[in-house]
Amino acid sequence: MKSFSLLTLLISLSPGLSLGSAASSKSGWATLPSITLYPRQEHVTLALNSTTLAILGGIIPAMNGDTPTFNTTGILQFYSLPTRQWSLASPAPVPLNHPNGAVVDGKIYLLGGLYDSHDGIWRATPDSWVYTPSKDSWTSLPSLPANDTARGSAAMGMYKDVVYLAGGESVLPLIPGQVQQSVDDVSAFDTRTRKWISLPEKAKKLPGRRDHAGAAVVDGVFYVLGGRDMGQENVRGDVFALDLNNLKKGWVVKNGKMPTPRGGIAAGQVKGKIYAFGGEGNPVEGSNGVYDQVEAYDVKRDTWEKLEKMKLPRHGTSATSIGGGIYIPGGGITQSGSPVDAFDVFYP
Ligand SMILES: *[C@@H]1O[C@H](CO)[C@@H](O)[C@H](O)[C@H]1NC(C)=O
Ligand SMILES: *[C@@H]1O[C@H](CO)[C@@H](O)[C@H](O)[C@H]1NC(C)=O
Ligand SMILES: *[C@@H]1O[C@H](CO)[C@@H](O)[C@H](O)[C@H]1NC(C)=O
Repeated sequence: MKSFSLLTLLISLSPGLSLGSAASSKSGWATLPSITLYPRQEHVTLALNSTTLAILGGIIPAMNGDTPTFNTTGILQFYSLPTRQWSLASPAPVPLNHPNGAVVDGKIYLLGGLYDSHDGIWRATPDSWVYTPSKDSWTSLPSLPANDTARGSAAMGMYKDVVYLAGGESVLPLIPGQVQQSVDDVSAFDTRTRKWISLPEKAKKLPGRRDHAGAAVVDGVFYVLGGRDMGQENVRGDVFALDLNNLKKGWVVKNGKMPTPRGGIAAGQVKGKIYAFGGEGNPVEGSNGVYDQVEAYDVKRDTWEKLEKMKLPRHGTSATSIGGGIYIPGGGITQSGSPVDAFDVFYP
């Protein structure tokens, strides 16, 4: 039947056409069920496996008498892609915002973060834990070594059983005008031996201090994109790269710069491109301090391209890639604390 085969041909040639079929046929933004319980910001989003993502830690809206405030939380929640349901798991042993989270072999590693010392300053803990889904329980791990600066908001890379933490923020005062302390330390934790490992000299420090950066490992290379240095407005657009198969070579600064330098971004990777979403510190009037840009870095070509903007611009969130989609739950919709429960996915 001629007309039928023509229709089939047209469908197979239209990559944007959504027929509820394979994820690869989708393109653009889609809204997903909101985070249950609380709006969330400054959490980490992780792909637990091929069907489930996790959000861990962050800040939630709360009241202090009659005054709205934020509580730092250790809440761990899962979202199932097939059932579109959120569920609750055992919270982290300590409430942390800007947690350094990673998944290796189905387990969640929480390697420090920032805690609320209830004096207007968020400080870093070196303490670390691992979560085992089959037991729904947390176990202590060795703390970050004293050589390395304790911090939250590190750029995270996972490769061959090792979790890499690049940069981060050691002190985050909530009082305007006080300096947010960015670091250039790079640390590594071996999940197999459960030991922190010593990196070669040239791999141990980033080419510059960074926190709130984007990160991804593509073909064994750890990329740290954008971020900021000592404060929300001090945005940066560099791409730093470390070959994890040749650590002695150390960090290099790539030629490709982000079209819109920014920190507080969420990043995810699909097919050799790293996508950077939103961010904070936008000086443009009417932006509420939030960036709406979506820009993609092609690791092979060392070039950036600008894409369709975020439907709901946010910062202070974190993204994870599963099956061709980049999932972005929560985040803040104005500069500083303004958590939302919105959840969307971007298909490049
Ligand atoms: C926030 O923390 C305070 C003090 O620990 C507690 O009383 C309150 O219930 C918390 N609010 C939420 C929403 O978790
Ligand atoms: C993914 O993890 C969730 C939570 O532990 C579990 O219920 C689910 O069966 C896992 N799915 C796969 C495909 O491993
Ligand atoms: C910490 O520093 C000591 C002394 O310089 C060194 O022997 C050790 O390997 C370092 N540890 C790590 C994990 O870098």
